[in-house]
Amino acid sequence: MDKCWLQYKSKPGSKTPAFLSTIVVQETSVLITSAVEELVNGLRSLYGVVPEVLPDKMETPHLFLTTIQNPFFPHVLDKGAIERELNEEGYLIKTLIHDGQEQLFVVSKTDKGLLYGVFHLLRELQMGTESPFDIVENPKVQLRMINHWDNMDGSIERGYAGASIFYRDHQFIENNDRIKEYARLMASVGINGISINNVNVFKTETKLITDEFLPEVANVADTFRAYGIKTFLSVNFASPMVIGGLNTADPLDEEVGKWWGTKAEEIYQRIEDFGGFIVKADSENRPGPFTYNRTHADGANMLAKALETFGGVVIWRCFVYNCHQDWRDRTTDRARAAYDHFKPLDGEFLDNVILQIKNGPMDFQVREPVSPLFGAMPKTNQILEFQITQEYTGQQKHLCYLVPQWKEVLDFDTYAKGEGSAVKHVVDGSLYPYTYSGISAVTNIGDDANWTGHKLAQANLYGYGRLIWNPDLTEEQISNEWTIQTLGDDLDVLEQVPRMLADSREIYENYTAPLSVGWMVNINHHFGPSVDGYEYSVWGTYHFADHKGIGVNRTLSSGTGFTGQYGKENTEIYESLESCPDELLLFFHHVPYTHTLKSGKTVIQHIYDTHFKGVEQAEELKYRWSQLAGKIEEKSYQEVLERLDFQVEHSKEWRDIINTYFYRKSGIDDVHKRTIY
Ligand code: GCU
Repeated sequence: MDKCWLQYKSKPGSKTPAFLSTIVVQETSVLITSAVEELVNGLRSLYGVVPEVLPDKMETPHLFLTTIQNPFFPHVLDKGAIERELNEEGYLIKTLIHDGQEQLFVVSKTDKGLLYGVFHLLRELQMGTESPFDIVENPKVQLRMINHWDNMDGSIERGYAGASIFYRDHQFIENNDRIKEYARLMASVGINGISINNVNVFKTETKLITDEFLPEVANVADTFRAYGIKTFLSVNFASPMVIGGLNTADPLDEEVGKWWGTKAEEIYQRIEDFGGFIVKADSENRPGPFTYNRTHADGANMLAKALETFGGVVIWRCFVYNCHQDWRDRTTDRARAAYDHFKPLDGEFLDNVILQIKNGPMDFQVREPVSPLFGAMPKTNQILEFQITQEYTGQQKHLCYLVPQWKEVLDFDTYAKGEGSAVKHVVDGSLYPYTYSGISAVTNIGDDANWTGHKLAQANLYGYGRLIWNPDLTEEQISNEWTIQTLGDDLDVLEQVPRMLADSREIYENYTAPLSVGWMVNINHHFGPSVDGYEYSVWGTYHFADHKGIGVNRTLSSGTGFTGQYGKENTEIYESLESCPDELLLFFHHVPYTHTLKSGKTVIQHIYDTHFKGVEQAEELKYRWSQLAGKIEEKSYQEVLERLDFQVEHSKEWRDIINTYFYRKSGIDDVHKRTIY
């Protein structure tokens, strides 16, 4: 099994610093056991020596792990200052000199903070950082979640890295070893909540909240708990009917409320710290409150009441839209749906309801604008949803590093409370006094030996965790960290890999759907080019290309009015052709192929140029990787090379299909007279 970024590879000639040969720890808890185990194994692997673990303070050099609860808290540290500086998950890593000898302290308020501190220390050691250490860290985001779209038959919706690590043949997998390894990986980047089943809750999965499966859910929760991670479940809104024998799931029906109340009790009896429910309701044919003419607030609040006494939350997804659209109807706009459904309900949700909003108004395209719902609901807890699994971004057969995209979203200014109201301040809870806030994402792992199919897609998983711990980290810092820890510190590797990652999203964008118009993929499985795949399906995701032009008019003045859902400043930018950024042009405007972009090129020439360029760039990616032969462990090297090889060929297919389509539609020649079929 691939160790990903927790390789703890020894460096030739590196000596164990004296303070790492003894660990003093005076407290016990499940989390502290995990922290010490990680530290001992990590140090053994890094330096080839097994540190001694002792319960007593020493005079000789040592590493002291302590929370502020420790009755023997070391006097050399300023407890008051530490209490003020750290939050419940934060930590301090500090070197002090005692009698001329170095001692290292990892200090936190809680055992969870200690575990995070240990992972941070190990990261520094892997990166080659030397003492003295003086680090203070607090996560900036409260809920740092991963969503699994795993089904109990073992399949994973939109999974591209093998089968589920939780389930097989409608049962839990008995051996938890892989889950433990996963928990370590997730804790090492600070993830503190994981939902373990698909948001589309089918027949067997509906029973996860029954006695048939709850003991096994509890078992998984035990494994995660040892790494500071709470377990969540996606639930079927129609459960009272499907498994409860009731004839309704109406959220205002008393029996329904009672049924969920009893259910919650049963769950918490087995899993005391159960996180709560994720709900996809009235979306893509899933049941929900609309069946009973109730609102989403009615639905979410009913579940929230059931969980309230136990400290649980309801994470209610805003991915609600009409997926049966008529192309003649130009007023219905899927992009508008989340805002139209949820904004009017601001203030109606209970305090333990959190709305989970996808980063964009459509569906995880390689480029789309930021959802206008962020910042638009001051009285409703919000979580942002990203997609790590590369559904529309090459399905882990193409290289597409998503950290740059996520950073753009987090840095986007909503202007909700004037300039500086970035999305990251909405989801870190600093813009509005939310009770809960955070970031969530659909994971990209499966039971493939390397977890993510494409080895380099591990960088997305790592990058997600690191970025949501601190949205101000730079993309370079994250990709450098990942590269050193995962692939080693060879200078050529360090020079090439972070750059390959950095360029990859633009490359993928270049040879796929242009200028944020989106889609153009084969329907259902969403892989490979099909320009009109969705144009002629009922899902309402159109590009409206004809012989005159392309794009979706979402303006207030003559289109669907979507631009009006943003704060005034952003509405103005997107509404006008002059100020709308090129890369978002076709999302907001329908223009003739001869429309001139800010780059000075016409839309049609831009399409041709980017598609030719994208293929050249994909070829370069492969070339750049091939220069690293012998510098990267052979198996991973070959696996990545094969995928890059596939990417090159597939990018040509994309280029040719898109270029030919638009050449034939527009009848306009490429000024450079390249081959367009
Ligand atoms: C996309 C994806 C589905 C998923 C849905 C969701 O539409 O293709 O597989 O169920 O998003 O987020 O609920």
